[in-house]
Amino acid sequence: MSAQPTTTDIDPASIDLSDIESFWAKPIDYRHAAFDVLREGPGLPFYAEPQLAFLPQGPGYYALTKLDDIVTASRTPGVYISGKGATGAVDQPVEFREFYGSMINMDDPRHARLRRIVSRGFTPKMLDALTENVSRVATRIVDEVIESGECDAVADISARLPLTIICDMMGIPASQHRFVFDTTNVILGVQDPEYVPDKDNIIQALLDAGKDMADLVRGLAKLRAEKPTDDLISKLTNAEIDGESLTPDELASFFILLVVAGNETTRNAISWGIELLTKHPEQRAAWLADLDGVTPTAVEEIVRWASPVIFMRRTLAEPAVLNGQRLEPDDKVLMFYWAANRDPAHFDHPERFDVRRSPNPHIGFGGPGPHFCLGAHLARREITVMFRELLTRIPDIHATAEPTRLKSAFINGIKRLPVAFTPGVAK
Ligand code: HEM
Repeated sequence: MSAQPTTTDIDPASIDLSDIESFWAKPIDYRHAAFDVLREGPGLPFYAEPQLAFLPQGPGYYALTKLDDIVTASRTPGVYISGKGATGAVDQPVEFREFYGSMINMDDPRHARLRRIVSRGFTPKMLDALTENVSRVATRIVDEVIESGECDAVADISARLPLTIICDMMGIPASQHRFVFDTTNVILGVQDPEYVPDKDNIIQALLDAGKDMADLVRGLAKLRAEKPTDDLISKLTNAEIDGESLTPDELASFFILLVVAGNETTRNAISWGIELLTKHPEQRAAWLADLDGVTPTAVEEIVRWASPVIFMRRTLAEPAVLNGQRLEPDDKVLMFYWAANRDPAHFDHPERFDVRRSPNPHIGFGGPGPHFCLGAHLARREITVMFRELLTRIPDIHATAEPTRLKSAFINGIKRLPVAFTPGVAK
């Protein structure tokens, strides 16, 4: 194996956070070392925005790599706003932003209204009801692979759980789950040629994917209006409950946000978890030795390490100073959670994967503030249940090749992860 890059090997001027090939496609260790260089440097590093064929290039952005800076920005949503776009450095047309981003790209009071309505689906009671379903689905997933002794952990294990849960929650029929999976890949994988091969038609591919998904949800909303059930679509479109409801367009956008925000993230956390246990057998042993005691900290550590959402953006609404850097209205900042989750000011030996890490103040689910991940509790339960199922039934599951990574600056994704394990018996 080649030696791991260190901060002294990397010239800060050689780092370009906007370049997929020269930065994001490089080995993970290089990325970590590069972010260490940026974090240790003065002020806030500034980058030109990526050049996209279909959108004008904006003025550039500052990169936040320290946990304290990201917490400050997240906690001050009146100054660091989301409404100009939270999921990419480049400005998108406003209709596009809201259609694909729903409330993640909004500020109060619109954000507060939407969050209030959709939170109905994420109460502790709803979550408890869902947990039973999560366990059933996790058991079924392991049942389907256990006798073969090998599979692709992404397609056969990690991707299936969050997708099934969100679709069940919303009331999407099983026959449409595959369609939702493929469409989500297009929306989040636009920078990866495997999902969108025609680079000149990225916008069209995105528009088609969004329209197809919206049609599916609008159709279901119509059916539920006539005959409500206890699914989320019925709850969110029925004004009888609490007097507020989503319009059909708001519902379609929220669903797109849910499948995108809830699927890829949780699936990648689970895939990275399997990969991490392969590379750190002593951590697997520690976890197996005390499954109940270690699972809560192990789940947090997987999310810290994986940081499935690499960054979110904010735009300045008024002047501010951050880490000694003066920021002006309309300046953009990218909050690199991925880098903050390795900030030595907050984590002992941040480079260590430690399933018993405590405290673990990671911000993988976002910084504290109004946009903190709506699905964090659900994601934690899904990861918990999936690993309990794996570690009790196929405890030696391990990767047999390096992960095939998603080419993306936004999602720390794994596309394929071949795994093997001692076969067992389906329940
Ligand atoms: C490991 C899994 C997950 C990770 C790492 C993750 C990460 C994040 C992050 C970083 C944000 C913050 C956005 C911001 O501050 O601008 C966020 C927001 C959000 N997440 Fe998650 N998420 C995960 C799972 C889920 C799940 C399972 C769901 C739903 C089923 C979900 C739904 C959402 C929604 C709706 C928002 C927007 C909240 C708002 O703008 O008010 N997430 N997530």
